[in-house]
Amino acid sequence: MDMRKLAEDDPLIRNVEKDPGGEELSPMDPPDAFEPPAKEAVPYEQLHPFLKRLVDDHRRIVERLDALDATVAKVEAGGLSAEAAAALTEVFAFIEAELAVHHRREERRLFPLLRERLIAVGEHSASEAKRTGVDVMEDDHLTAVKQAAVAIGFVGLSSRLPDRKSGLIALASGVRQCKALSEALRLHIFREENIIFGQAQKHLSRPELDQLAVEQG
Ligand SMILES: [Fe+2]
Ligand SMILES: [Fe+2]
Repeated sequence: MDMRKLAEDDPLIRNVEKDPGGEELSPMDPPDAFEPPAKEAVPYEQLHPFLKRLVDDHRRIVERLDALDATVAKVEAGGLSAEAAAALTEVFAFIEAELAVHHRREERRLFPLLRERLIAVGEHSASEAKRTGVDVMEDDHLTAVKQAAVAIGFVGLSSRLPDRKSGLIALASGVRQCKALSEALRLHIFREENIIFGQAQKHLSRPELDQLAVEQG
């Protein structure tokens, strides 16, 4: 099975296909998005325990994304084997459960308080809506949920479609969504760790961060 050829032929996918002949992004050669102009990273050891815990969550999420990338590469090379399907099911279960919990941990109290503080110190867009980095992070969370739902849907569909060609097209679409999800979440984590958590450490007081830790257990 030639998934790459299928992806190139597939009219459904062509619109979102990156230049097939273009260079693949590599973690060793990051795009500019990974070099934001105003990094506010705080070393892990200096982070408040509440923020450290979020970074710890990120490490576990990245481990799963690594597993997702490895499985997707296997699916591209050899189709959806029973082993690959089981691995994808495991990653999807993690995304639906633990990623959602992590997002809630950030959204429930940290993001509202930090947004309020960023607006107070003038770190927001010039528009009337006064958007902050926190709003961008919340948008990312929604995007990740949607990408995961589409990926899960396509991969599930691929195994149920009786027609082989249709099944392969669904699988290629699922693969593409998995890659988009992995790439987007990695960038999201980078931005939280290099900008948002640094802003939280800077603009929230120690007692406020202590309180967040107590409230969120
Ligand atoms: Fe987040
Ligand atoms: Fe996060």
